[in-house]
Amino acid sequence: MNIIDGKEIALSLRSKIADEIKTFDRPPGLAVILVGEDPASAVYVRNKELACKKAGFFSDKIIKSENITEEQLLEEVERLNHNPHIDGILVQLPLPSHINSNKVIEHISPLKDVDGFHSENIGKLMQNKSHLRPCTPKGVMTILESIDCKIEGMNCVVIGASNIVGRPMAMELLNARGTVTICNSRTKDIAEKVRKADIVVVGVGIPKMVKGDWIKEGAVVIDVGINRLEDGSLVGDADFDAIKDIAGAITPVPGGVGPMTIATLLENTLIAYKQNL
Ligand code: GUN
Repeated sequence: MNIIDGKEIALSLRSKIADEIKTFDRPPGLAVILVGEDPASAVYVRNKELACKKAGFFSDKIIKSENITEEQLLEEVERLNHNPHIDGILVQLPLPSHINSNKVIEHISPLKDVDGFHSENIGKLMQNKSHLRPCTPKGVMTILESIDCKIEGMNCVVIGASNIVGRPMAMELLNARGTVTICNSRTKDIAEKVRKADIVVVGVGIPKMVKGDWIKEGAVVIDVGINRLEDGSLVGDADFDAIKDIAGAITPVPGGVGPMTIATLLENTLIAYKQNL
C-alpha cells in the first residue's frame, strides 16, 4: 500500500501522549489565540482544541475580535507567558493586517512557543539543536520515519519557501542529511528538479500543481497543501490520482499531513511542559 495513512500515524502518536500524561500531577496546558473570524482558521483552532481535550490536556481557546489592537494582543500573550497552567501558546495565523505577526510571535516566550516560530527556536533548528520545532515539518519527519523512508543522501525537493512549511521543512531534511533543493515561485524548470527527487514535499497552496510526469518512479511525495475547490472538495498541491501509481508512497489530502500537524502540536506542548517543570 503506497498511500500513507496520516490519520493512523497521528492517532498512534496521540494515544502514546495520552498514556504518558496520565501519570502527571497536572495536565499540560495549551492556549490557542484566534483573532477574527476567518472560517478556515476557526476550523483549525477547533480541531486543535478537540485533540487537546481528547488527549487529556488543559486547553484554553481565546477568541478575540478582529479589532483588537496589537498592544492588547501583546498583553494577552504576556499574561499567558506568566500563566503557570499554560505550557504552550499558539497564535493562529494569519492575523489581521493591522497587527505585525512577527512582533506577536517574538513576544511569545521561546519556552512556550509550541509552533516553533520564534526566531530563537528557528535559530536552533538551523543549528540542529532545536527543542521546539515547527509542527508541520516535524510531523512530516515523523511520517517519513514511520514508513522507514531513508533520508540520508537522498535528493529532497521542497516546493515552497514559507516560514511555516518550506523553510523549516528544508532544514529538517538537511538535519537528517538529505541533499535539499528549495523551489520557490521563481524557480526555473521546476518539473526537471522534481524529476530528480527521491523525496518531494510540496506546500504552496496551488491545487494539483505537481503533475504525474514530474515524479520519479518510486519517489515519496508528501503533500502539505489543503485547497478547497469551488465544488467544496478538498485537494492537495499534488495531483494525487496522477501520481499515486508512480510514487513509492504519497500522503492523501485530507488524511495525510493535516492530522500529523495537530498530533505534533500536542507532542510539542508535552515537550514544553517537561522543560517548564
Ligand atoms: N496557520 C496555518 N498553519 C499554522 C500553524 O501551523 N500555526 C499557526 N499558529 N497558524 C497557522
